Amino acid sequence: MFHAQVLTLFPEFFDSPLACSIPKRAIEAGIVCVERIQIRDFATDRHRKVDDTPYGGGPGMVMKPEPVVAAIREARRRDADTRVVMLTPSGARFTQDKALEYVDGGHLTLLCGRYEGFDERIVDYVDEELSLGDYVLSGGEPAAMCVLDAVIRLLPGVLGSPESAVLDSFSEEGILDWPHYTRPEVFEGRRVPDVLLSGNHAAIEAWRRRESLRRSRARNDDDA
Ligand code: ADE
Repeated sequence: MFHAQVLTLFPEFFDSPLACSIPKRAIEAGIVCVERIQIRDFATDRHRKVDDTPYGGGPGMVMKPEPVVAAIREARRRDADTRVVMLTPSGARFTQDKALEYVDGGHLTLLCGRYEGFDERIVDYVDEELSLGDYVLSGGEPAAMCVLDAVIRLLPGVLGSPESAVLDSFSEEGILDWPHYTRPEVFEGRRVPDVLLSGNHAAIEAWRRRESLRRSRARNDDDA
């Protein structure tokens, strides 16, 4: 069983996405377990304070090191093999390769921050910093949920067909998926490509390959 833990001030954030579709089935099948740890439970002062104003001034609040580090220690106590990943826009970019790496690891702890960010000293207590992309979310939770989803669907036994995950966009080093079509044959004047209706499997395979490469090139040109 893959063991995931999430350190967060909003454990309820994950309730709905983990109770739907593929993550739900994976949890029910005992393929993954997602434990949520409330960072606030590790605050020691009377007001259970988890954030404070930044030294040097400026807007917003910063997450305090004591409760966050105590929560990280609790995650490591529960699972000595866990890899602790801090979600932050300044981290390394999340990719499909990363998701595959996490799957192989078998143990993952995702640390979610709120407010303006974490006290920088917390970085010394995590294994890596990870970003979903070049934009700022109001907290690490949506990023953590994306990481969880990307990992869960790759776990053996989760997807209906073992081929599905392998055939996905990006599974083959940066190559995107081909375009998909289903009924009807004509939708508002837009036809399904003839080759897909031809029954010629070799031609279909060649067409899909060509389209994948064309899309991937177009994407690379956009990114450049
Ligand atoms: N927290 C806020 N923005 C984020 C991002 N883009 N990726 C990961 N964590 C975040």
